[in-house]
Amino acid sequence: MIHAEAKQMTAVKQLGYLVFEVSDVSAWDAFGTKILGLERVDVRGDAGFSLRMDGYHQRFFIEHGPADDLSAIGWEVEGPAELAAFARRLEEAGHEVVHGSPEQAARRNVRALISVDDPAGNRNEIFYGPKRPSEPFVSKVVRSGFVADDQGFGHVVVASQDDEEHEAFYATLFGLKLSDYIRCEYFGHKINVTFMHANARHHSLAFGGGQLKRIHHFMVQVKSIDEVGMCYDRFLFSGGMVHQTLGRHPNDKMFSFYGYTPSGFHFEFGSGAIEIGDNWQSTTHGKVSEWGHHPPQLLTKAYRRSKDASAEND
Ligand SMILES: [Fe+2]
Repeated sequence: MIHAEAKQMTAVKQLGYLVFEVSDVSAWDAFGTKILGLERVDVRGDAGFSLRMDGYHQRFFIEHGPADDLSAIGWEVEGPAELAAFARRLEEAGHEVVHGSPEQAARRNVRALISVDDPAGNRNEIFYGPKRPSEPFVSKVVRSGFVADDQGFGHVVVASQDDEEHEAFYATLFGLKLSDYIRCEYFGHKINVTFMHANARHHSLAFGGGQLKRIHHFMVQVKSIDEVGMCYDRFLFSGGMVHQTLGRHPNDKMFSFYGYTPSGFHFEFGSGAIEIGDNWQSTTHGKVSEWGHHPPQLLTKAYRRSKDASAEND
């Protein structure tokens, strides 16, 4: 009975927001609004701004600073009783919990929040009562809109030091459930990533191995495949650098591409992912993608070969 109650009270509902510390605020303004199609809200001068994508007031906090990295992951719980139970559970497990001040909660547009670091030092903020405007969100760029709201804004992939410890932390203390693993080689790199879910979205969090930054990438999902193609075009014509070409993942079935954000870490822009239920069976996949998601250098090589061949024929 105690176990069932604790499990119910401590599970997070969804991935609520990300906080980025960025060195070039104006580049992030153009990227967030013109490429991703999000709405800029709460402009704080040179200090940053926030980005809206659905019925929540904001999903991204863009804050000026030198790190060019993720500074916090925001997780939503149901209400004050759940937040208190969450804090108790984390403290009983020996983790240092910081209880946010009313001013800190107001800065995040939530009723209250606490924060705790995961085993790799990634800061998590757990909150309840997010601000939700009465007027609907309408993107001027992504006309069909984003898949977000009850599924959270998307997903985030972060560094971990000990994958088993990391998985146990999020399973036993956050109530995340295992989705699956991907273990394979990708163009000479060893891939070992763990995927976990909080709701019908296949994964809200994934992690694995050492990385150059805390974050590897975040993902936003749109409602049509054409919107992915149109973002791909916007990104290419803006001079953006593609990290992985269009492709489809084997686990969440996301059709997507990856590019570099103005901070050097990656974003994924996708559509068409599956939704999962309580009877989900986790598995291990032996490839990153069913097709595509190649490094763009492959295209460059093919282009050079074709230029060389046509020069020989001249
Ligand atoms: Fe992803």
